[in-house]
Amino acid sequence: MATPDPQDDQWQDRVREMVATRQDELTRPDADQGLFAAQIKQVHDELIQLRMHYQFGIDEVQTKVNILRQEFEQIHDYSPIEHVRSRLKSTESLIEKAVRTGGEMTVPAIRARVHDIAGVRITCSFVSDVYWIADMLRRQPDLETLTVKDYIAEPKPNGYRSLHLIVRVPVFLSEHTEYVPVELQLRTIAMDFWASTEHKLSYKYRKNLPGRLRAELDDAARVAADLDERMERMRDEIRPMPDRGETVSASPSPPASPSHSSP
Ligand code: GTP
Ligand code: MG
Repeated sequence: MATPDPQDDQWQDRVREMVATRQDELTRPDADQGLFAAQIKQVHDELIQLRMHYQFGIDEVQTKVNILRQEFEQIHDYSPIEHVRSRLKSTESLIEKAVRTGGEMTVPAIRARVHDIAGVRITCSFVSDVYWIADMLRRQPDLETLTVKDYIAEPKPNGYRSLHLIVRVPVFLSEHTEYVPVELQLRTIAMDFWASTEHKLSYKYRKNLPGRLRAELDDAARVAADLDERMERMRDEIRPMPDRGETVSASPSPPASPSHSSP
């Protein structure tokens, strides 16, 4: 889940442990406070720069999606894209995830293990449009697909469905090119409705979701999947599917990064 669970004590214990270790070091008579201050400033500056680069990554992907959307709206009378939302992970939740996932607490190491710092969510009306948009983006030569997780073909045990891609987009800076990974979540309106409700309930109840709500959610997941199927049958009446060639679900590219894999 995206939201850290403050009751979930593992990462909080690790943070406490790390602070305690640092406190011991700093209260030693020979502690180098100046060095510590310089280290903190360096991490702070690196984090600000990281956030800026990842925001540029979001902007690049969002431009691509907006171009597709506007082209569809102007040239055709139908757009497969309903909504687009993006988010940059807050520094707080980035640090929480960096601690929770374990490993070196330097900015390059955190960057290498946290792949959802930049996120773009695309909501479509129909399931086939989800794959269609994913294919259009994946065919763009400057977007490299790092991983594909198809939770539509294989929903999570709780009923969560969506297509997740991690793509790497080049950001051209004054002195160099930064390759920024962006997490793309593509889903239908029904999938989005279910996921946002599930997220709110899980946030409210943490790990103690009452059984009756769990059962309601399970049932709602089935109803949402059924609605998607029915809508799909009507979709062709609105706009017949063009020949899409390669599809994401049929032939995902092999992951370039070993840290994520298709389910
Ligand atoms: P995170 O550490 O949570 O990012 O998970 P992950 O790296 O294993 O990736 P995964 O593809 O499973 O999930 C990434 C994102 O998808 C999450 O941050 C959520 O936004 C969304 N997501 C995944 N599973 C669920 C779920 O069960 N319910 C809801 N509401 N959202 C989910
Ligand atoms: Mg996440």
